[in-house]
Amino acid sequence: MRNAVTRRDFLMAVGAVASAGILRHSIVDLDRVLAAPLPPVVRRDIGGLSATDPIITSYRTAIANMKALPATNPLSWTYQAAIHGTTAASLQTAWATCQHGSNFFWSWHRMYLYCFERIVREMSKDASWALPYWNYTSPTQRQLPSMFRDTSSELYTSNRNPAMNNGTGSLSNSAVQYSTGFAFQSFTSARSSLEGTPHATVHGGVGGGMSNFAGAGLDPIFWLHHCNIDRLWNLWLAQGGGRSNPLNDTNWRTQQFTFFGENGNQVRMAGCDVLRAAQQLKYTYEGEPAQVNQYCLELRPELVEAIRRFLLRVRFPLPPFVLGPQPASFAINIRPFRAQIAGIIESRTQTLLLQLDGVESDRQPGIAWEVYVGLPTGVVPNSDSVHYVGNVALFGTGVRSEAIHRQFTPAQFSYDVERAILAALRSNRLSVQVVFVPRGILINGRPSQPRVASPVRIGGASLVVEEQRRR
Ligand code: C2O
Repeated sequence: MRNAVTRRDFLMAVGAVASAGILRHSIVDLDRVLAAPLPPVVRRDIGGLSATDPIITSYRTAIANMKALPATNPLSWTYQAAIHGTTAASLQTAWATCQHGSNFFWSWHRMYLYCFERIVREMSKDASWALPYWNYTSPTQRQLPSMFRDTSSELYTSNRNPAMNNGTGSLSNSAVQYSTGFAFQSFTSARSSLEGTPHATVHGGVGGGMSNFAGAGLDPIFWLHHCNIDRLWNLWLAQGGGRSNPLNDTNWRTQQFTFFGENGNQVRMAGCDVLRAAQQLKYTYEGEPAQVNQYCLELRPELVEAIRRFLLRVRFPLPPFVLGPQPASFAINIRPFRAQIAGIIESRTQTLLLQLDGVESDRQPGIAWEVYVGLPTGVVPNSDSVHYVGNVALFGTGVRSEAIHRQFTPAQFSYDVERAILAALRSNRLSVQVVFVPRGILINGRPSQPRVASPVRIGGASLVVEEQRRR
């Protein structure tokens, strides 16, 4: 590939401006280097920023300048969004390469944001610019941040759920919770859970372009959403308890992905380049605990993920099971293996999961379904209850219309159901209902009647056991 540089060359080239190369560059470069803050920069919570904050005004300037560039220019708004996804028939370098439904999800988006942030600095001439994050889990930030709703701003796009754009709409509690994902110790399980909630739920809640691969990167809020997802990666690791990146997976460590630097040259990055954001990528998050430093060369066996999953019993073959605008349910009879379940719940190394396989829709469904296990009949579903285990929410993976430049893969969801099943066992319920409740955004703080743009089919369900190596 022409113009290809590795990330190391790229960083060295930047460093060279400050040292030997300085005479060959214009004085503007020197000014920029001298003006740049000492790294790392701090990525701030958008909730603490006003519309006139330089972080916001520089972002607007950069968007305007990026939109003025032709789509063939890697620094253009269109090109950057197309790296995530595009419906264009002919692909340019790095287009349609976003990674979903695999363990590259967190790392690929970290690389993407890192390069984008550098481009915004260049295009705004604000050398200290750092991407802010949208902390929607905070009860005061469930609405789209106000500066993104100002119709005269570059941060606005009419292509969103109208209620989110006019400020009457807000994300539901269940759409923004990450505690179920955080409870998983296994990287794969946590990544998968968080990729669903809050990741896919927030994409769907904002709606419009944000709900599909090709449109997402065109909405300025996309970058703040992923900045938060990236922050959650750090926070998940910081909980300790054996949590680790999948360092034993060679592919995860070394597979290179292509992006573009602020000079328009190609940059290639791999998992090993993005393990320690503060050191390697020079940014931290406002208010985060000390970052967990992991290293590729020093494989510490105790940090290596060791999990296996086994089927507790035959799958529950579902007759065609479809999620639509009304709640839907099926029952699991746990009588034959209640003693076994009790043992798993007691064990500290085993976790009882409900796994849904072959989850798919024709198009983006537009809403999510809350999942309840063992909910007693007549009880109103509430995501604060022990019976709430997570959501079914699709973004890209599992959506057939998204298989434009990639192979179709159905989605899979796993939920920790120990507390919910224990509650059912304690009240002697041996036929456990699994209930799916459609949940859209809130309108004026109240649940709305969600519109289902495309129903979701579930191919099968099973109770499985996830076993962690004893630590
Ligand atoms: Cu690759 Cu949230 O998107």
